[in-house]
Amino acid sequence: MTASGRCNMKIFVFFTFLALTVAQKLPVRSIWQWPQYTFLENLAVRQNGSILTTRLDEPLLLEIDPFSGQGPQLVHQFPEYLAVGGIVETEPDLFAVVSGNFSVLKLTSYAGTYAVWKVDYRCSKSGAPEISKLTDIPQAAFLDGMTYVPSAKALFIADAQLGLIWRMDIQTGKYVVAVNNTLTQKCHATDLEAVNGLKYFNSTLYWTNSGCGWFAKLPIDTNGNPNGTASKIYSNSELSLDDFAIASSSGIAYLSASFINQVVTIGPDGKLTSIAGGLNSSDVAQPTALAFGRTSADLKKGTVYVTTAGAIGDPINGTTIVGAQLVAIDTKST
Ligand SMILES: *[C@@H]1O[C@H](CO)[C@@H](O)[C@H](O)[C@H]1NC(C)=O
Ligand SMILES: *[C@@H]1O[C@H](CO)[C@@H](O)[C@H](O)[C@H]1NC(C)=O
Ligand SMILES: *[C@@H]1O[C@H](CO)[C@@H](O)[C@H](O)[C@H]1NC(C)=O
Ligand SMILES: *[C@@H]1O[C@H](CO)[C@@H](O)[C@H](O)[C@H]1NC(C)=O
Ligand SMILES: *[C@@H]1O[C@H](CO)[C@@H](O)[C@H](O)[C@H]1NC(C)=O
Ligand SMILES: *[C@@H]1O[C@H](CO)[C@@H](O)[C@H](O)[C@H]1NC(C)=O
Ligand SMILES: *[C@@H]1O[C@H](CO)[C@@H](O)[C@H](O)[C@H]1NC(C)=O
Repeated sequence: MTASGRCNMKIFVFFTFLALTVAQKLPVRSIWQWPQYTFLENLAVRQNGSILTTRLDEPLLLEIDPFSGQGPQLVHQFPEYLAVGGIVETEPDLFAVVSGNFSVLKLTSYAGTYAVWKVDYRCSKSGAPEISKLTDIPQAAFLDGMTYVPSAKALFIADAQLGLIWRMDIQTGKYVVAVNNTLTQKCHATDLEAVNGLKYFNSTLYWTNSGCGWFAKLPIDTNGNPNGTASKIYSNSELSLDDFAIASSSGIAYLSASFINQVVTIGPDGKLTSIAGGLNSSDVAQPTALAFGRTSADLKKGTVYVTTAGAIGDPINGTTIVGAQLVAIDTKST
């Protein structure tokens, strides 16, 4: 997540905007809009095309069928927490989800409150999943992006406050610090978030470091251990990047550029292009995370779904906050 703009962000991002390569902007379709001051944090797409999305302002996991025109259904409320964050599918219809105490209003993460849960649709007859806690992580300070490495049966979870990546065994819940280096750590003590979005793709861990303005990668082997050195793919200290998705055919990353209200791409060559939204636009107001659709209709259009926080962190034009949205962007012309 990226919860807040720095006070002076607007001034910085104006210059940043000028430096971006601006392609023809893609149209943005709204799937659903929530009331103002809602904060959608992350999402995962189920194999049948429905979308699971998490709320940071309330401890809720929601499901929405993007083709139905119907609103979200409540999957689960996590009663002992203020927020729900990262979500990833670990086997077909089995998801891992992070809960914890984060206050959107106070922009504060409460260390020691985080846990990882399993949301299991595999044996569901009623449609409702079985929900169980995998483990608490009392040492964690602010769990954010999460990804899964199947060959290692391991979750990797960004700790945005401690500036490191945890690794957790999906069967036992045992966890260790897996990556803790200058590319995951904070650049400034005052940064709310260091390592933030996190994805495994093509034998490589990719992450954003929001406070530093970096997109970085680290090759890992089939056991989930580093197999090479971490490096920056893109760097711009004035741009705050949140969570992202990687297109499997091209290796192009689609990222949330939260406080400039845009979705940007970064290619393997490190070139950044703005593809949707705009600094003063509410089309994608403070994007937080992206995930590609999985139905044949999604694949045909290259549809990527985006969650937003409605510009809570840095109001558009200094004043406008809109309701958070789930939006769809078709990245292939048909
Ligand atoms: C996926 O399955 C759920 C039932 O588990 C159903 O509510 C939902 O509409 C389905 N989604 C799609 C896109 O068919
Ligand atoms: C989260 O905060 C609430 C309200 O302050 C508190 O009741 C709850 O115990 C906290 N949860 C955890 C896991 O510490
Ligand atoms: C991460 O590395 C920093 C220094 O590079 C160190 O101070 C810190 O204790 C490490 N954190 C953990 C949990 O190992
Ligand atoms: C480590 O990476 C090299 C290529 O850089 C590859 O040949 C090797 O198989 C990898 N090791 C493991 C254990 O995956
Ligand atoms: C996967 O990684 C290999 C080795 O670095 C690279 O040659 C290949 O282009 C990558 N594939 C994609 C789809 O990015
Ligand atoms: C922000 O201001 C610009 C220029 O005045 C205007 O075109 C735009 O509609 C405004 N955006 C919002 C979301 O109000
Ligand atoms: C956004 O609006 C500000 C005024 O609020 C204006 O100075 C700036 O030129 C606008 N930028 C773009 C990219 O429209």
